[in-house]
Amino acid sequence: MANFRSLLLGLCLLGIVPAVQAGADNPKKNFRLYCMGCHQIDGSGSPENGIPSMRDEVGHFLRLPEGRAYLSQVPGTLNTPLNDGDTAELLNWVLVNLGRSSTPPDFQRYTAEDVRGYRASIPEDIPGVRVKLLEQLAKP
Ligand code: HEC
Repeated sequence: MANFRSLLLGLCLLGIVPAVQAGADNPKKNFRLYCMGCHQIDGSGSPENGIPSMRDEVGHFLRLPEGRAYLSQVPGTLNTPLNDGDTAELLNWVLVNLGRSSTPPDFQRYTAEDVRGYRASIPEDIPGVRVKLLEQLAKP
């Protein structure tokens, strides 16, 4: 038991246990569980394999209302067991920590209600939506 306690203490000092134990860092944990496999830990993705980089980029979508919806409608975000509230937190975390400079500091954070609404009306052609959004965002 003593060994277990000192192991736990060691992990706490490393900052590993509190995140998992307290549930304080759920979005980060959820990102690692459900998103990192494709998007990489730093959000850089794998553009050559069709997984766009979110790093310093994903926040640009917030400039369009359809873009804000799109981020919560991509299959990766949808195909998790996360509820609307946890999904909202995860998106906010992604925008701040991976979108970084692309995300306006005063951006409208996602709420569970937002996510519920967006999920109720998923566009059929998500990759097509992305192409259109990028065209619109490229306009001056
Ligand atoms: C199986 C691989 C995969 C997983 C897992 C995955 N994604 Fe994605 N994600 C993609 C692909 C591919 C795209 C590009 C959009 C498209 O063409 O559908 C994308 C696009 C996105 C985008 C929009 C970025 C852009 O530039 O278009 C966001 C935001 C996103 N994913 C969030 C998430 C989150 C959050 C998770 C975890 C809950 C997640 N994804 C899990 C593959 C994945």
